[in-house]
Amino acid sequence: MIARANGNHVSITGLGWHVPERVLTNDELAGIVDTSDEWIRDRTGIRQRRIAAPEEAMSDLSLAASRRALEDAGVRGEDIDLVIVATVTPDMMFPATAALVAEQIGATRAAAYDLSAGCTGFMYAIAQAYGMVAGGLVQRALVVGGDILSRILNWSDRSTLVLFGDGAGAVVLERVDEGGFLGFELGADGAGGRELLLPSSGSRKFEDSVPPYLTMNGREVFKFATRVMVSSAEAVLEECGRTVEDVDVYVPHQANVRIIDHAARKLGFPDEKVVVNVDRYGNTSSGSIPLALADAAGDGRLQPGKLVLMTGMGAGLTWGSALIEWTHETNGATA
Ligand code: UT7
Repeated sequence: MIARANGNHVSITGLGWHVPERVLTNDELAGIVDTSDEWIRDRTGIRQRRIAAPEEAMSDLSLAASRRALEDAGVRGEDIDLVIVATVTPDMMFPATAALVAEQIGATRAAAYDLSAGCTGFMYAIAQAYGMVAGGLVQRALVVGGDILSRILNWSDRSTLVLFGDGAGAVVLERVDEGGFLGFELGADGAGGRELLLPSSGSRKFEDSVPPYLTMNGREVFKFATRVMVSSAEAVLEECGRTVEDVDVYVPHQANVRIIDHAARKLGFPDEKVVVNVDRYGNTSSGSIPLALADAAGDGRLQPGKLVLMTGMGAGLTWGSALIEWTHETNGATA
């Protein structure tokens, strides 16, 4: 789907983030599987990632990120009437992690549910929340994106283990007088679903020989990523009547610095417009884009009036872009 925002202006009015304390370096991984710091940095740009403590679950990361977002927006939990948590690693299949978060922040009037769209989850969730706020169904939405992928990784598979990390970001969406979201482009290609999946995680039976861990055909996902990161960004810009030159801040999904560099080069973004933090966090799935937004807020790049382009891609296979004229005076520290 592709759509230009119409009618009411809706924007991000609060931003928060949270990552687990534990830093896991490439050298430590080299002690677990047959890999090296050099290989990981060369092929992915990743230097380290955060790993959740055994007692930490997705609702814990979500709650910490949400509290910061609420504070940044200057609103209380009871002011929120929609909570969406975009994740593929909820605390459990049900109840929804969003319902647990809503309860803990005191959002007693809120509808709350989880959304699964792989690493694109945050993009899908902000589009949904935009629609609900713009359409007047709700006044104020809290959207969390994050994952604890360390729980579903095969810790003896070097081809996936080195790529991912844990973390979450959260945003508050509400009506504003001007600016805010200009448009969205979202898509899915189920035929590519087999390239990135978690077998035996639902009602489909798999052979006992298929391990119940995140399974990925890295080369195929790489090809897909380099294609959609460019086509989705171009599509949303065209739909909104904007060009790459109009964009001040480019926030791509943080999967691999080679994918980011390829997309930025093809689209024509100079380095200073591109937000990169994959080196510090690895691929945090749905946490990636809100964590990158928090970084851009922290280093002063997200100022009212700035045009921000976000593009995500991931399991599904899915992709999604949003264009927003930033309206919020951010005071968050760099993620
Ligand atoms: O959010 C979306 C999720 N995923 C992605 O975006 C991932 C997309 N894919 C990628 O980023 C890249 O394909 C990878 C980083 C996963 C792999 O990079 P690559 O340059 O495509 O490497 P490759 O798969 O072609 O493997 C090259 C070699 C292989 O050895 P041989 O067959 O050439 O002898 C692998 O076995 O590198 C080997 N290899 C490793 N070596 C050291 C694979 N993983 C590792 C490792 N350490 N961790």
